[in-house]
Amino acid sequence: PADLDPETFVELLADEDRVEPRDDMPAAYRKTLVRQIAQHAHSEIIGMQPEGNWISRAPSLKRKAILMAKVQDEAGHGLYLYSAAETLGVDRADLIDQLHSGRQKYSSIFNYPTLTWADVGAIGWLVDGAAITNQVPLCRCSYGPYSRAMVRVCKEESFHQRQGFEILWTLSHGSPAQRAMAQDAVDRYWWPSLMMFGPPDDDSPNSAQSMAWGIKRFSNDDLRQRFVDMTVPQSEALGLTLPDPEIRWNDERGHYDFGTIDFTELFEVVKGNGPCNAERMAHKVKAHEDGAWVREAAAAYAAKHAVAEGA
Ligand code: ACO
Repeated sequence: PADLDPETFVELLADEDRVEPRDDMPAAYRKTLVRQIAQHAHSEIIGMQPEGNWISRAPSLKRKAILMAKVQDEAGHGLYLYSAAETLGVDRADLIDQLHSGRQKYSSIFNYPTLTWADVGAIGWLVDGAAITNQVPLCRCSYGPYSRAMVRVCKEESFHQRQGFEILWTLSHGSPAQRAMAQDAVDRYWWPSLMMFGPPDDDSPNSAQSMAWGIKRFSNDDLRQRFVDMTVPQSEALGLTLPDPEIRWNDERGHYDFGTIDFTELFEVVKGNGPCNAERMAHKVKAHEDGAWVREAAAAYAAKHAVAEGA
């Protein structure tokens, strides 16, 4: 496909709404999509680590089976997304290289530790809840392969969110120690979850262009507000409090007000200075190196069969 000039492209988008891999598109549109889809894929893969940490210590066989399935779903999401990125002419191995060398990002949220079992609940409820809020509109993203991948990903994420809610509900209705554990997890994960939506709109360099191109359908702040509005009533149902005394319903706005987010924390974590950045990357790189023989064997097997089929 050829590079298309941005003005013709915006006109085509207005009629057509969806762009497919063989369509002409502006180079900058392609570049933005590769950036966002790769970052999204990397997040799914790195996101396996905080919860993977609890698979061997989940409190029952049933909880262990559910958590294993969930972590495996995240791997599947990462693979879909790498495939979606590859339809734009990039190579998965190169994207992984860029992650490992720090040239591509992954979501800030996965740089926080999972200290207790309740953190698995808080990640399901809050982190996956924020992910769904951000990703449901991406089902209508202008790039076909990304939008279609999001449909299945969102269905699985809603199941993940329910399982997180259920873990916290069980703990919050358990012993005083279990309840305290649930509250502590929510206290630690609330603000970082709000940061997942990215910087405020007036400090978000990519938003205006991505919205004009139909990649993003809503702004970072609009999605953050939508998440707060959805989550406050759920926290009441759980009997847990959100660690923000400024949360209150605003009749005039028709939304919940909430306190000021410390975005310096987001920028520090994105720069690599979060509590677990070094650990997450070291683990990822080691897993990739340890898996080299599997990739080599798979490639050798495929080459052997290609020769056999050709003969
Ligand atoms: N963590 C890490 N980096 C972030 C975060 C975050 N929470 N929020 C913003 N950034 C980065 C952006 O990638 C961008 O950096 P770059 O230009 O070097 O790529 C920079 O901060 C400025 O932000 P924006 O201009 O607002 O960037 P963008 O328009 O891409 O919006 C957003 C950021 C909302 C995260 C968008 O990329 C998106 O919707 N991505 C798809 C969803 C996703 O990646 N989810 C991953 C977590 S959920 C999960 O995996 C379960």
